[in-house]
Amino acid sequence: MSAAAAVAILAGSPGAASPSPGAADVGDPYIKGAGNGGYDVAHYDVALAYAGVKTGAVEATVTVTAAATQDLSAFDLDFRGPEVTAVSVDGRPARHGRAGQELVVTPSEPIRAGRTFQTTVRYAGRPQPVRNGTFGTYGWTPSKDGAVVASEPDGASTWLPVNDHPGDKATYAFHITVPKGLRAVANGRPGPVRPGGATTTYEWAEGAPMASYLATVAIGRFEVRRTEVDGVPVVTAVDPAFRASAKRLESTTARMLRWAAPIFGPYPFATAGGIVDDPKLGYALETQERPLYGGFAPDEGFIVHEMAHQWFGNSVGLARWQDIWLNEGFATYAEWLWRERTGRDSAEKIFKRYHAQPGGSPIFRPPPGAPGAGKMFGFSVYIRGAMALHALRKRVGDKAFFAVLRAWTAEHRHSTATTPQFVALAERVSGQRLTALFQAWLYAETKPRIR
Ligand code: ARG
Ligand code: ZN
Repeated sequence: MSAAAAVAILAGSPGAASPSPGAADVGDPYIKGAGNGGYDVAHYDVALAYAGVKTGAVEATVTVTAAATQDLSAFDLDFRGPEVTAVSVDGRPARHGRAGQELVVTPSEPIRAGRTFQTTVRYAGRPQPVRNGTFGTYGWTPSKDGAVVASEPDGASTWLPVNDHPGDKATYAFHITVPKGLRAVANGRPGPVRPGGATTTYEWAEGAPMASYLATVAIGRFEVRRTEVDGVPVVTAVDPAFRASAKRLESTTARMLRWAAPIFGPYPFATAGGIVDDPKLGYALETQERPLYGGFAPDEGFIVHEMAHQWFGNSVGLARWQDIWLNEGFATYAEWLWRERTGRDSAEKIFKRYHAQPGGSPIFRPPPGAPGAGKMFGFSVYIRGAMALHALRKRVGDKAFFAVLRAWTAEHRHSTATTPQFVALAERVSGQRLTALFQAWLYAETKPRIR
């Protein structure tokens, strides 16, 4: 029984608990304050007009379609964007207030559990990125000729009112209006381009469930290329400063798609591509269907890594941030497999080279299965995470190992999953007891021994 139900019974009102506010947090210990309770989002409709680099201002109307998971007297959205000018729920004006990164919405009447409701938030002003020592610069980030969004782990709230936790995936529609001469690129499938007077509106639609940190829009000047791989449209957009890399981005993305499908299972999305923009973020992000490379021309390894995330991280998503190795270890291992495919290198050689490093190296510490929030994107999550997969491969053999990868992407397609679920699946598919192996590779403080 929930605490609220217990209180209702004590108060002598059996049956439905009285409506109460949704939780301000989903309780993920890695990212405090992120996500909210009491509802489950199905869709975000994002209409955003960008004024230009001079002001960097936006005017936006975002409609969030969600289902209540309890009787709600009020609920929160995560939002650290500019001034909120109006909020309505199902067309009726709603009270709203801001507390830190929370936008607290009180509808004119309570929302019954199970009901689908629409919250419309209007806001205007200049969004800002988050900057911190742990995750660098992320969220809505100004560029030389516009702006670009890369939000992992909790930067989506810099530009959207959102349930900002990967456990609540939703579909998205983007209607982005920009001054004539600029372009807007986002996730998913491109729609019609609508010329206005002094503006152009670009439509994009992400039709598969997507975690909020994977939502992106890139505004500015871009060299856009379109091709198709096995029926999947590939759209790339490259800032003119990186023009020389446009062809390589397109061709490597295409080669990766053809190579990966037999190994990881069918590509999980409707379109693919990539975006190279100028802000020097120092990282790339696997923004759904269209990874973003922040301020550098990506080499093959980078492209393979971000594309691998489309299977591992995006389609099979995280239920909690602690399991980040399910994203980064897998995407790193995909790079090793890509190098192995030519026969010039092998995952085994790469694994051995790393294993020769001292136990105190950051490639081994902290253990990748519980890295702590500060080391979510540390070397050990990527490298020891990939080594864990190679250790699994050596134990169960290639046939079972690749069957495990494909069962993982098939069984959790467009959903979320956890490390214990991966261990259970690997045991089931291989028919072996693997708890000790994963304990040693994911959780033990000390560098695992190999034979
Ligand atoms: N998932 C990205 C990658 O490995 C890393 C994102 C890091 N995020 C950040 N705010 N620094 O491809
Ligand atoms: Zn990654």
